[in-house]
Amino acid sequence: MTAQAVASAAHCEEAQREHVKALLRRENAVLVAHYYTDATLQALADETGGCVADSLEMARFGREHTATTLVVAGVRFMGETAKILSPDKRVLMPTLEATCSLDIGCPVDKFTAFCDQHPERTVVVYANTSAAVKARADWVVTSSIAIDLVEHLAAQGEKILWAPDRYLGHYVQQQTGADMLLWDGACIVHEEFKAQALLDMRHVYPGAGILVHPESPAAVIDLADAVGSTSQLIRAAQTLPHQQFIVATDKAIFYKMRQAAPGKEFFEAPTAGVGATCRSCAHCPWMAMNSLDLLAGSLESGDQEIFVEQSLGEAASRPLQRMLDFARQRR
Ligand code: 13P
Ligand code: SF4
Repeated sequence: MTAQAVASAAHCEEAQREHVKALLRRENAVLVAHYYTDATLQALADETGGCVADSLEMARFGREHTATTLVVAGVRFMGETAKILSPDKRVLMPTLEATCSLDIGCPVDKFTAFCDQHPERTVVVYANTSAAVKARADWVVTSSIAIDLVEHLAAQGEKILWAPDRYLGHYVQQQTGADMLLWDGACIVHEEFKAQALLDMRHVYPGAGILVHPESPAAVIDLADAVGSTSQLIRAAQTLPHQQFIVATDKAIFYKMRQAAPGKEFFEAPTAGVGATCRSCAHCPWMAMNSLDLLAGSLESGDQEIFVEQSLGEAASRPLQRMLDFARQRR
């Protein structure tokens, strides 16, 4: 690209950003973005009084905000969660096509049959699921409170049926010692991180800390200096003494990590190595669909709106609300 073409592209992006800001004001809307979305959208959310957060905080922020329209930049379950918790608000997304492999891998009919086979178990589902799956659950959790909640349930002698992420489920099981029966789902992004290649990389950067999202395989988690949700990993980047980090989660998080820990260096954990197919290479293909142009289009047309049927929404809101109440008590 010539220097002139670069300047012209930057000018267009700036004009589009201003256009989106005006649309947000016009629609009395607030932008709620996940850390895995494009840095442009994260910056826009910050500049316009919205939020950039993990999935638990996105849910809480959207519900408590006074805007009449929530624009959720993330994946579909995040938009659905916002709608379930705020049924009177309009919820838009840049595109309704942004989904999640965990959601896809847990269809409600098969999940219901699985639950019916184990009626003695308390059903705990990860937020990365459809409204229908949530409606069948006793509890919803996100990665930031999964351990606390399962510990709490196990202390009351409850046996757990967990869905859909088997890696997160295995990690929680290991940390809490709870009796957990796991659904067989996975995140196509985190599943790709490779332990041996990560060990090799640590030889190249011997002083680097390793930050791992618990949707990753156990062998990768075992190498971590910190394991946690996206917001917990950002905090770890800030508080751990290392000056360099190898990060096993979506690389779009680097935008906030660099803000939180200026001067520190961040490297993507390897997705290459034995058995690698690298379909995702440390970036979620569905999160990547959230573009500035689609965001503008959605605000202009209103055609990317989330709807959740009322009785389904009411059923799904119960385990979601329990999660938010539990998280508030823990804070
Ligand atoms: P967090 O709840 O940690 O933000 O994770 C959401 C997610 O989809 C991770 O892949
Ligand atoms: Fe789903 Fe994985 Fe994408 Fe998160 S990163 S939204 S778990 S596919």
